[in-house]
Amino acid sequence: MRAALRVVVGAVALVCLASLPAVAQEPPDGRDLFVESCASCHGIDGSGTEFGPPIQDAGEAAADFQLRTGRMPLADPTDQTTRKPPAFAVDEVEALVDYVGSLGSGPPIPSVDPAAGDLQMGLQLFVDNCAACHGATANGGAAGVGALAPSLYAAGPLDIAEAVITGPGEMPVFGFDEEERNAVVRYLGYIQDQDPPGGADIGGIGPVPEGFIGWAVGMLALGLACYFIGSRVKPEAKP
Ligand code: HEC
Ligand code: HEC
Repeated sequence: MRAALRVVVGAVALVCLASLPAVAQEPPDGRDLFVESCASCHGIDGSGTEFGPPIQDAGEAAADFQLRTGRMPLADPTDQTTRKPPAFAVDEVEALVDYVGSLGSGPPIPSVDPAAGDLQMGLQLFVDNCAACHGATANGGAAGVGALAPSLYAAGPLDIAEAVITGPGEMPVFGFDEEERNAVVRYLGYIQDQDPPGGADIGGIGPVPEGFIGWAVGMLALGLACYFIGSRVKPEAKP
């Protein structure tokens, strides 16, 4: 019995020892991570290179948005940035965000409270400011100059608030106050929970191509109807 106890105590002690280095591990160093993964394009001090823009005043909001949505680090500087699984663990993202924030005077991570947002105000702000690029149903669309405004169905509340104040890629920065940000976030959360509007959608590829498919199907049906009617009228028309 005592021998068994000794074995158990020994095993527990071993496990504790083995996990000691993990407990004592240093938190990730933002500067080291930045030098390793970002400086080749943005420069060590964030002042930019030919491969990436200056990000000294991008702020914690932009860094947090770019890293949490997996946009950074970019593999090829000419690629359009897109949403991907994040390349870093949560504590590494925090360390990098702190480091980018320390480089200059950009916006901090905004607070967001969807429940406090006004739905009607959100709808109006979306129609006036976002629908032109992201589409009336937020399914995405062309944003001009070869850029594609993505569907907004994968974006969480904080992603939306950060995108609005940092304007990633071809998207402009919007000077919304907290009330307006919460309203847009509430509205987008609301439509994310709805079934596609306007009946069956055709793969959600956007109003113009979907309209074209509707038009083509309609024309075909009309043509067939004409042919059918014509073929029935013909025998009577002949004397
Ligand atoms: C001029 C066109 C344009 C307008 C106007 C615009 N956006 Fe964007 N938006 C974009 C583009 C392009 C991207 C992709 C940027 C990138 O990946 O670098 C984007 C990205 C986003 C994202 C990130 C989506 C994701 O899944 O990661 C969100 C959220 C967003 N926009 C919300 C909005 C909201 C809310 C508005 C209105 C207040 C708005 N956008 C207005 C073009 C636009
Ligand atoms: C291969 C080059 C490359 C690497 C590596 C890279 N970036 Fe970028 N980064 C870019 C380019 C190019 C853009 C502009 C993209 C756009 O606007 O569509 C950008 C944009 C950004 C922005 C947005 C700037 C703004 O004003 O909104 C931030 C923040 C950022 N990068 C942070 C990082 C961080 C942090 C890392 C490292 C984890 C990183 N980047 C790695 C090329 C790179």
